[in-house]
Amino acid sequence: SDSLYKAMRSRGRSFIGTALTIRDNEPAEPKIIKQDFNSITPENAQKWESTEPSRGNFTLADSDRYVQYAKNNGLQIHCHNLVWHSQLPAWVTDGKFDNRTLIQVMEEHIKVLAGRYRGQCTRWDVVNEALNEDGTYRESVWYNTIGEAYLPIAFRLAAKYDKHAELFYNDYNLEYNNAKTEGAKRIVKLIKSYGVKINGVGYQAHLASEATPTAPGAAPDQKTLEAALRATADLGVDVVYTEIDLRMNTPATPEKLAVQAAAYERVAKSCLAVKRCIGMTVWGISDKYSWIPGVFAGEGAALIWDENYNKKPAYKGFLKGIVGR
Ligand code: G3I
Repeated sequence: SDSLYKAMRSRGRSFIGTALTIRDNEPAEPKIIKQDFNSITPENAQKWESTEPSRGNFTLADSDRYVQYAKNNGLQIHCHNLVWHSQLPAWVTDGKFDNRTLIQVMEEHIKVLAGRYRGQCTRWDVVNEALNEDGTYRESVWYNTIGEAYLPIAFRLAAKYDKHAELFYNDYNLEYNNAKTEGAKRIVKLIKSYGVKINGVGYQAHLASEATPTAPGAAPDQKTLEAALRATADLGVDVVYTEIDLRMNTPATPEKLAVQAAAYERVAKSCLAVKRCIGMTVWGISDKYSWIPGVFAGEGAALIWDENYNKKPAYKGFLKGIVGR
């Protein structure tokens, strides 16, 4: 096969996706999407600061373009996201809302976003990144005001305004099968204990392919990745790799690119080894636009196309892991 998503479909799974920022100056991107992907995740357009910069002022033209793009091209869309502590405007963070008012603010937002795209979002990241590394809840305006109940409340509201979308909890560093993974299990159980729907857990998979200054160890071994996926899948939800990028210390060398290719293969294999792993999304197409170098100095080259839109060894590794032989 010469298509990531076709290979994935032929293994009986649902999708291979990419994060998307629509760029009119990169004609290679729509071609790659057509060939290799059947799902997109809007990289930034649906975040709160972009969609409700002040209370009740909804600015959805950009978000609409992504939903339209998916529709025009017959793609699934993983909508991202409804409730997060980051890219959250100051009017929410510093608004000093009391419990009932903050819940009201949340409902107004979810009503407009989930409602507007009802039946069009394949999946929604309902709550994003609620956990600390030790598995406790992250301090945020949501948690500090509402307590852990903000999670089931958000999922209940998402289901209320879009009964079709699959509803996901999404976080990073869940791939190590450690205390943070336990935290994700706790969240799935919590939401279910309220009698509220949760369909899946997103494992972002922002990992290092080799040891780097910001990640002392490389991406987990395959057994660990599989165990981490099973930890929540065994609770009766789907699992997805939602934001894969496997960074390295730059510049890339043939050796590092080979190590990275093996890491991509291992991540893909771990998904295919777990029945409820329905799909995988990479966090962008080309290294040219990846968020990594801007945040991790001296690291990058994390995606599967290089800065000139040439396939890297990682593309082959990823495909090999999907095909499974
Ligand atoms: O659009 C403005 C531009 O007008 C301005 O000139 C420029 C100056 O800084 O900033 C531009 O906005 C940037 C935006 O990306 C678009 O490029 C923001 O500063 C920058 O913070 C933002 O970064 C995004 C980041 O989320 C913000 O948290 C990345 O693109 C995006 O890839 C990243 O994605 C997140 C997921 O949503 C959640 N999981 C982690 C992942 C990586 O951080």
